[in-house]
Amino acid sequence: MLTIALPKGRIAQDTLEKFEKAFGEKFVFEDRKLILVKAGFTFLNVRNQDVPTYVMHGAADLGVVGLDVLEEKEYDLIKLLDLQLGKCKVAIGLRAGEELDWSKSIIKVATKHEVIAKKYFEKKAMAVEIIKLYGSIELAPLVGLADCIVDIVETGATMKQNGLEVGATIMETSAHLIVNKNAYYSKKAAIFSLKEKIEAVL
Ligand code: PRP
Repeated sequence: MLTIALPKGRIAQDTLEKFEKAFGEKFVFEDRKLILVKAGFTFLNVRNQDVPTYVMHGAADLGVVGLDVLEEKEYDLIKLLDLQLGKCKVAIGLRAGEELDWSKSIIKVATKHEVIAKKYFEKKAMAVEIIKLYGSIELAPLVGLADCIVDIVETGATMKQNGLEVGATIMETSAHLIVNKNAYYSKKAAIFSLKEKIEAVL
C-alpha cells in the first residue's frame, strides 16, 4: 500500500487521470472526503503547500507538487518523476513599461515565494525587503505595496490584465512526483513499479 498526497484542485484531477490510465480504475474523491483508498493506493487531498510536509514527515510515501513549492520548503525529498502537468514559471512582475531600479538601496518584493525571491536577489547582490502575501500578488505594485512581484506565470494573462509586465524568469516549474527518503528504500519495488506505469502513460 502506497500513500500519495495530492494538491487540491486541477493537478489532483490530472494526476488521478494518469492513474486511471495506468491502472484501469476510476479514482475519484467522494464529495468532501479527504482520503481515497483504492487499488492498493491511499490518496490524500491536501493543500498545495502542505504536500511536501506530509511526505517529509512520512505521513505520505509520495506526493505530487510543483518544483516551486518544493524549492520553497527546502526539504530533503527525492524527485522521482516529472508528471509534465501544471507547467509554468516563476517570474518577476513589474508595472508595464517600468524596469527594476538596481540603483535603489533596497527593493520591495511582494510574493508568496519568499525563499525563491530572496535567493534570486541575493545572487544579484541586491538588498530586498520581502513582503509575504498569500494570493492576488499582482495587486501589490499597483497600490504601492511593492516595487515588483515574484509570482507564478502560466499564460501571463493575470499580469497583463492588471497592468503588469512579465520580467525575468527565475525558474521553470511543473508538477513532480516526490518521495520520502525512508519510503524510497523500504518500498522501493512498489515505488518503481508505480513510476514505470505512470511513465508509460505520460
Ligand atoms: C497563479 C498566480 C497568478 C496566476 C497566473 O495563481 O498567482 O495569479 O496563477 O496565471 P496566468 O499567467 O495564466 O494568468 P493561482 O491560480 O495558482 O492561484 P493562487 O494565487 O491562489 O495560488
